[in-house]
Amino acid sequence: MNIEERKWEIMYDQEALQTRIKELGSQIKNDYQDKNLLVISLLKGSFIFCADLVRAIDIPRLKINFMTTSSYGDSTDSSGKVQVQADITIDDLSQYDVILLDDIADTANTMDFVYKHIARKNPKSLKTCVLLDKPSRRQVEFVPDYIGFTIEDKFVVGYGFDFEDMYRNVPYIFNVTEELL
Ligand code: IMP
Ligand code: MG
Repeated sequence: MNIEERKWEIMYDQEALQTRIKELGSQIKNDYQDKNLLVISLLKGSFIFCADLVRAIDIPRLKINFMTTSSYGDSTDSSGKVQVQADITIDDLSQYDVILLDDIADTANTMDFVYKHIARKNPKSLKTCVLLDKPSRRQVEFVPDYIGFTIEDKFVVGYGFDFEDMYRNVPYIFNVTEELL
């Protein structure tokens, strides 16, 4: 599929994203005001969401760490197999209240795997946050604690979401339609 030849349908423009992310940020601020919050962002998909979300969480004791797992690669279908490619740089999480951040919960194989991986490092508490949730695609049971938007089974691109590792830099989220230009 050459997505440049198809019509793009904007799902969430920059304003819609910023409005919702500010709401999520103030909700998290209220929940974590007196805590040592550690945000763990899964790369690469959540790097843009993370950058905007942490700036909307107005608390002093916030730290950020990153983790990379294997992903779709160049395909648009999940293999169901998840591996750690680069782990977080803190081994003992016992003094942190952790929020695990990803771009999307699709089959949720990634979040299920990473949740268990991080839980073994003994965090004080562990919650999850995704910008988009596609509950109809689940292969494992998983309900995120913080959700930006719940969507139908559509393949989305932009704002960190990739198509063949490209278009992450598009500042809005779009869906590629069947319609040719
Ligand atoms: P999972 O199926 O929930 O494990 O999702 C694995 C990864 O697939 C996510 O972190 C995304 O990087 C990617 N992914 C899932 N759905 C989409 C989509 O609609 N567009 C782009 N990437 C997606
Ligand atoms: Mg991806």
